[in-house]
Formats: sequence, structure tokens, C-alpha cells
Amino acid sequence: MKFFIDTANLAEIKEAQDLGVLDGVTTNPSLMAKEGITGAENILNHYKAICELVTGDVSAEVIATDFEGMVKEGEALAALNPQIVVKIPMTKDGVKACKYFSEKGIKTNVTLVFSVGQALLAAKAGATYVSPFIGRLDDISTDGLNLIEEIRLVYDNYLFETQILAASVRNTMHIVNCAKIGADVMTGPLSSMLGLLKHPLTDSGLAQFLADYAKGNQ
Ligand code: G3P
Repeated sequence: MKFFIDTANLAEIKEAQDLGVLDGVTTNPSLMAKEGITGAENILNHYKAICELVTGDVSAEVIATDFEGMVKEGEALAALNPQIVVKIPMTKDGVKACKYFSEKGIKTNVTLVFSVGQALLAAKAGATYVSPFIGRLDDISTDGLNLIEEIRLVYDNYLFETQILAASVRNTMHIVNCAKIGADVMTGPLSSMLGLLKHPLTDSGLAQFLADYAKGNQ
């Protein structure tokens, strides 16, 4: 399973990249705003800076909601760097734009997906990635992981190549469960990845090893 980090924070992206397990980055307008990145030029420059930090795919979301606007904005984003994946909302115009970009060989990530039907449409439109939001489904007392399972079944039935990018991952167990179910990619905060490191027996075992070494080497 690929690990993407879901942030626009350059320090966190660098920390994840330095760990050696990062496969890409996803952003969205809320994450850009959180970092104080505003204005078209600053936003484009920030995407360029992210691409310089990592080697994998970098999802950059369009703001336009109409087909023509998405195409114009998406083409400008894709021209920044071959790593850029144009992130498009799951709307009627978004599906049309996804098909357009897919035919042009531009990578896409269809976002804000909350049902199997939406994921099926995205795959038929040739999406590179589809982003079901598992945490936000959990927030409304729905089983987000179940959606990943159902999309996996449908995609496998028809050998769709669209990669299931489990988004809105909030914690370490989301990552582990996505891996069990067969999500192709997960995107989450740095804390969710670092959480995978933790086990109390690792900590106590290491403390014991170091204490025994110290006793024998006084
Ligand atoms: O980037 C899309 C998604 O991962 C957002 O996550 O935590 O805001 O629901 P969250």
C-alpha cells in the first residue's frame, strides 16, 4: 500500500519524506488555507515547492466547479510538474473533466467520494485515483472502511485500474485496516504514520537491551 501524506505543511512533508516511506502528497483547499497559502501565484509556487521535496505524486485540487474552469485550472496545475495529479470534485462537471484529463494522459484524483456509485463513475471516467473519505463517514456514524471494501470488490470485478486512495484517514488503525482490506493508497496526517512505530513492548525491550549493555560495559 502506498503512503501519501495529507497536508500542505512543508516541514511535515519533509519529515515524512526523510522517514523513507512516503509515496506522495495530497492537499486540498482547506489544507492550503491552514498553511496561510493564498492567491493563485502563491498556491502554484507552493505546489512547486512540494514537488521539489518529494519524488511521488502530488494531488493539487481545482477550485473551479464548471467543466471549462476545471480544464483551464487543471491544465495549468499539470503544467507545473509531471508529479502533479489534478484533484477534481465528484460532480457532473468533475466526471466530465476527469474523462477529458484521462484522454489527455493527465493524472487525476476524484475527491469527495462517499458511495460505491460515485467510485464506479470515477473509474469509468478513467480516474487515476479515487478518494473515498473514510474519517468523514465515521464522523456521521457510518462505516468508512466498509466503503473501501465495497469499492475494492467492484473494481476487482471489472479489473478497473483506478487506484483506491483511502482519504480522510485519521489514525493508525485506519491505516492498518485499509491495508487489510486492500486499499491501494492511504493518505493521512504525519501523526497517523508515526503512530505505526509505537508499541510498548518495543520501548520496554529496547530499554532492557540498553540497560543490559550498560551493565556489561561499565
Ligand atoms: O484531503 C482529503 C481528506 O483526506 C480530508 O480529510 O480529515 O479533513 O476529513 P479530513
